[in-house]
Amino acid sequence: MKWENGIIDSLVWGKEISRREEKERVAQQIAARVKDGEVLGVGSGSTSYMALQAIAGRIKKEGLHIKAIPTSLEINIACARLGVPLTTLEADRPDWTFDGADEIDPHLNLIKGRGGAMFREKLLINSSHKTYIIADSSKMVTRLGMNFPVPVEVFPQALPYVGQALKSLSPAGVTLRMAGGKDGPVITENGNLILDVWFDTIPDDTETAIKSITGVIESGLFMGYTIEILNP
Ligand code: A5P
Repeated sequence: MKWENGIIDSLVWGKEISRREEKERVAQQIAARVKDGEVLGVGSGSTSYMALQAIAGRIKKEGLHIKAIPTSLEINIACARLGVPLTTLEADRPDWTFDGADEIDPHLNLIKGRGGAMFREKLLINSSHKTYIIADSSKMVTRLGMNFPVPVEVFPQALPYVGQALKSLSPAGVTLRMAGGKDGPVITENGNLILDVWFDTIPDDTETAIKSITGVIESGLFMGYTIEILNP
């Protein structure tokens, strides 16, 4: 039986999507890779959302049977709206995952997490045999940290301690991410806070150094992961 209130059906991507044509081209590349029967890890952000739309188009047209494991609530809702069947990491392992990025350096290191979903994104990428990162041309940088801070998800009671420890790693700046549609800070889907950390340089051991601070749940730094980049 279907809900009749239309709340899920009326949901669209909240903001204007930048570089829409480029994102549409990589979305089509992802959709073309989908095979019947696969379980897909679905990343977050507008590029992943457009790829999901393209996959939903193939499901409708060709009757493909696929299942999605979403990395965020907004992608969970998008799957429900677009008619993409859902599963969980407990029930299934993804055949492959696709996801966007905020920055990609020449060594394929990434900053992710503008949308705050980096914990589940990293979990899905680590759980998958293969990951495609889909990115428009604005994401390619010569050095990580040029345009985006590294987001760090923090257990709330550990905020002062983690903030202090991150400041010693990065004197360039640590700020608590504030919410747009509520008072106070952003609360992640896991009930935690986000510290955005600006770096002048990001040495190779930075992801490990951040993760070793007690109270850090995960960071949006992805260094040395086995990924394939799909450009428009
Ligand atoms: C979500 O938390 C992020 O990691 C996104 O994948 C990243 O911010 C890219 O988003 P866009 O595809 O909207 O640029």
